[in-house]
Amino acid sequence: MEKFVIEGGHRLNGEVTISGAKNAVVAILPAVLLSDGICRIENIPNISDVTTMIKILHGMGAKIRMINPTTVEIDPRPVNSHIVEHDLTRKMRASYYLIGALLGRYSKACVAMPGGCDFGVRPIDQHIRGFEALGAQVTMEKNAMVNVKADMLIGTSIYMDVVTVGATINVMLAAVKARGLTIIENAAKEPHIVDLANFLNTMGADVRGAGTDVIKIRGVESLHGCTYSIIPDQIEAGTFMVATAATGGRVHIKNIIPKHLESITAKLEECGVSIIEDEDGEGLVVSSNANLVRCNVKTMPHPGFPTDMQPQMTVLLSVAEGTSVVSESVWDNRFKYVDQLTRMGALIHVDGKVAVVEGVKKLQGAPVRADDLRAGAAMIIAGLIASGTTEIENIEYIDRGYDNIVGKLTTLGAKIDRVNFPDGEALVKNVG
Ligand code: EPU
Repeated sequence: MEKFVIEGGHRLNGEVTISGAKNAVVAILPAVLLSDGICRIENIPNISDVTTMIKILHGMGAKIRMINPTTVEIDPRPVNSHIVEHDLTRKMRASYYLIGALLGRYSKACVAMPGGCDFGVRPIDQHIRGFEALGAQVTMEKNAMVNVKADMLIGTSIYMDVVTVGATINVMLAAVKARGLTIIENAAKEPHIVDLANFLNTMGADVRGAGTDVIKIRGVESLHGCTYSIIPDQIEAGTFMVATAATGGRVHIKNIIPKHLESITAKLEECGVSIIEDEDGEGLVVSSNANLVRCNVKTMPHPGFPTDMQPQMTVLLSVAEGTSVVSESVWDNRFKYVDQLTRMGALIHVDGKVAVVEGVKKLQGAPVRADDLRAGAAMIIAGLIASGTTEIENIEYIDRGYDNIVGKLTTLGAKIDRVNFPDGEALVKNVG
């Protein structure tokens, strides 16, 4: 087992380059299954969710060639089954995109139920409604397999009852080769939805309106291979912005799309942080003197403040002057990590989906654990600003979504190490 050991109190300074977006690549890799040719995907991040998805595709028979650490070539043509029993699918949420992609390719799919971070109930009713609207029948098998099949997928109008990234993507994947026009209303607008649409269009699809709440997909007969580069990761960039702001440093964050970061930029500026776009428009310079002031944050679907930045921002607010209110409106249960922060001296009171954060002068290092991916990122930021040493367990969550986080932070002046510790010697006992 491994943990991170952080010696707090060092400001972040310098330059960091952001990797490709996790939530885009985990949709685009399964989408390759819809192609009749080889797809070359560039700017893929080196994270365990990508490794898992590539292993699943390989297990299905796809030919995989790593060209270099950030480029993969996938030939989906040898895949000859619509069934994915692989245990790996249960390890990650995005494995449910295999359902939409296989349905689009074969008009049928049978995939083990997805896993992923635990934020309370994570229903897939909107995915199922979407598949059914396209003419498929959906059944849940006893062995936790989702079985979807259609004689023929036929385009239709689908109104999403909730704004959902996953269901929007899954319906796009299923509809791209359906007969006629599919219209998704109340669609999610996240940058990764746009990236998937761009990828599908590069393969010859006809998808319009991605990034607005109405997406129109005119089905095409076939899709061809292509070369495509994944967009930069909005949440990795946001995490470095908050980490810089919280430590009182100055960092040039490169290879980003500033537009994707507007809600995060606005909140950090409200807290007293300076953020300036660089000359080429593909970077931001974040500087802070660590005298942060309170603000209120409410998470919303894009273009609102991203729920995937909520834990990191809460850490920053825990040392900002005054009382902040953080409202989580996307997930039912995304404040579990607050117990860990409290161990470090934060003063936070959680009531359901609202956290009231009383700013304290300083956090103190402590043994803590990553409860999920973004909670893990939050613990790292807490460790960077705390006095003394912080040890973080369960770091495999962090490896799912942050490419070389230790290397990147070390280059910026952080004191963080990845160390082994023997199985059974858990640092954080009797918590949660
Ligand atoms: N929802 C339903 N029914 C559905 C689907 C979703 O009620 O059929 C609800 C959910 O319970 C939730 C809300 O709709 O309350 C939004 O869920 P969404 O489907 O948008 O989430 P997701 O697709 O499962 C993706 C990201 C998450 C991110 C959310 C929200 C991926 C692989 N995951 O999850 O990212 O929090 O969108 O932006 O894209 C992360 O990267 O750390 C992460 C958890």
